[in-house]
Amino acid sequence: MRRNIVAGNWKMNRTFEEADDLLFAIADPLQKLDLGNTEVILCPPVLYAEMFTDVALENNFSVGAQNCSNHESGAYTGEISAAMLKSMDIEYCIVGHSERRKYFNENSEMLAGKVNQLLDNEISPLFCCGEVLEEREAGKHFEVVGQQLFEGLFHLSADELDNVIIAYEPVWAIGTGKTATPAQAQEMHAFIRSLIAKKYDQEIADDTTILYGGSCNAKNAKELFALKDVDGGLIGGASLQADDFLKIVQSF
Ligand code: 13P
Repeated sequence: MRRNIVAGNWKMNRTFEEADDLLFAIADPLQKLDLGNTEVILCPPVLYAEMFTDVALENNFSVGAQNCSNHESGAYTGEISAAMLKSMDIEYCIVGHSERRKYFNENSEMLAGKVNQLLDNEISPLFCCGEVLEEREAGKHFEVVGQQLFEGLFHLSADELDNVIIAYEPVWAIGTGKTATPAQAQEMHAFIRSLIAKKYDQEIADDTTILYGGSCNAKNAKELFALKDVDGGLIGGASLQADDFLKIVQSF
């Protein structure tokens, strides 16, 4: 179902006490906001899941994880399964973030496995795609994003895809302060929607939530979220500043 979403990806930041402070600095004011049909998702380090889901219960946000295993269970030391996330009331999970693709060598086969595990456990994948700078400069950005979607997501049935959120995150824009221009964001989001229309149908494409991520902040969120095919943002750095994040949440 298509809706406006602002998701905060805290990445590997904040110790427990710091996370507690930031959580309440966001959750308390958030509770007083009329968010309309905007959904807020916080994706802290999964270690703190219980604290977040407890607070989320009384507040208007949901909790997401940043990663999960592509395996169901068993001897995979250090891994966390989708079933474990589900048992902690986690509703969303980021899959295929460029940092995981790059630093942890996650390939499309693994990512498709993670997506399957999550859907089997009724958790919505927040599936990331995006090109690196050299790929954009070589004019290959559509091809790259298309391939990521085909390999990681397009094995799903239409019903399954309905539970997936897509995040376009051009890698050159992540943590660099170099945001995609509104024209670049709109062009790619429209392209992603057109691929879904081709693979599934137009109604399903129109129903898919597609977020933008990459140096999205309190200053540029309004312009980005106003774009026809941009349904919100996946926020990194600015999600660690309560005031900024709350401004972004109100940027629709
Ligand atoms: P920044 O907002 O820090 O650029 O990070 C975006 C991101 O990677 C969200 O997943």
